[in-house]
Amino acid sequence: MNNFMLHLPTKVLFGAGQIAAIKQQIPTGAKILMTYGGGSIKKNGVYDQVKQALSDFEVIEFSGIEPNPQFDTLMKAVQLARQEKITFLLAVGGGSVLDGTKFIAAAIHHQGDEWEIVKSHGQVITQALPIGVVLTLPATGSEMNGNAVVSRKATQDKLGLFSVYVKPQFSVLDPTTTYSLPPKQTANGVVDAFVHTFEQYMTYPVNAKIQDRFAEGVFATLIEEGPKALAEPENYDVRANIMWAATMALNGILGVGVPQDWASHAIGHELTAQYGLDHGQTLAIVVPAIMWHQRENKKAKLIQFAQRVWCYQGNDEAEGIKIAIEKTRAFFEQMGTPTRLSAYGIDDSQFPTVLKKLAEHRPDNLGEHKNIDIKAAEEILRLAL
Ligand code: NZQ
Ligand code: ZN
Repeated sequence: MNNFMLHLPTKVLFGAGQIAAIKQQIPTGAKILMTYGGGSIKKNGVYDQVKQALSDFEVIEFSGIEPNPQFDTLMKAVQLARQEKITFLLAVGGGSVLDGTKFIAAAIHHQGDEWEIVKSHGQVITQALPIGVVLTLPATGSEMNGNAVVSRKATQDKLGLFSVYVKPQFSVLDPTTTYSLPPKQTANGVVDAFVHTFEQYMTYPVNAKIQDRFAEGVFATLIEEGPKALAEPENYDVRANIMWAATMALNGILGVGVPQDWASHAIGHELTAQYGLDHGQTLAIVVPAIMWHQRENKKAKLIQFAQRVWCYQGNDEAEGIKIAIEKTRAFFEQMGTPTRLSAYGIDDSQFPTVLKKLAEHRPDNLGEHKNIDIKAAEEILRLAL
């Protein structure tokens, strides 16, 4: 196991009815900017619960943060927050609202061009406004981590940033808020959480038994509960297990002391920027292709994954690898998330643009061995057609 430092400053308030408890978590006298998306929270009752809980506070609202949050939209919120002298941000929604709010928190007191925050991947952040979260879509882990992904349509950029300053102070995880998710978003979230686990697990062994066993528990939970959430959207236990699995997948615990990959995410972000596919949709396409392309480098973990997660009992390496890939692909498809570009009518005609942007955004090679260069990325895309 490699050396590591782990700091998880986010207080988690888990369970039905926990939205009411946010009033005790926000400093008295705070002036709050409540951020949200396109209106799903008004339809499912979350908006009313939040407003009720905030009745003793001065609250300004900023709505319209879109999926894959756009820099231009977020800058409008930054201007509003500066003008209103906001002291606390409350993000209510999915990963896009949370990520967008993290950018807003960092940008409010930033001197100079705010795009630098994104371009530097968060390195220029030295302070941020405190953030609270009410999560409505289990997927990204943004509710407990310091990551945010911000997009800019004009330049087809979609870039990740990280800063310890933007980790939420608290996050409410109420599984009943996820009953209203459309099946596509439930599936996207399950696939995203699965792939976060995968990025931190599917590398090479370093004898990190806790991380491996925890990751295998998250995989198994998502495999068991994901299809049930599609069949029984209002099953509390199913939604609760998925919600906690998604948080565990990217709150830092699985990734400490182990090598990490993240090539699927890097390529996936370019597919979202180029074709507008949802984040989870891109991962379901890229992961099986990367598994096959990197099967030699990932051999030991692929076999462990086949045995422990997919219950493969044989000891034929080639067969184990094949099972790991086929079962993973079948699981994504079972969730209703296609695993090939052709399912979206996408051919190779735009690959040169995708690869040019990838080279621009990620000048270093990708993968835990840094062996995925642009040529390899093209091979992976071709495997995904
Ligand atoms: O905007 P509203 O009306 O709220 O609707 C949203 C949106 O249309 C809807 N939704 C959310 N909760 C709902 C709901 N609809 C009904 N009922 C509910 N309870 O779902 C749609 C998608 O929401 P979005 O927030 O975009 O989805 P997700 O949580 O998957 O976030 C995706 C974004 O997170 C980034 C992705 O790249 C993408 O930009 N990521 C962030 C990460 C992080 N911060 O650590 C890691 C991930 O790898 C990922 O890259
Ligand atoms: Zn992701």
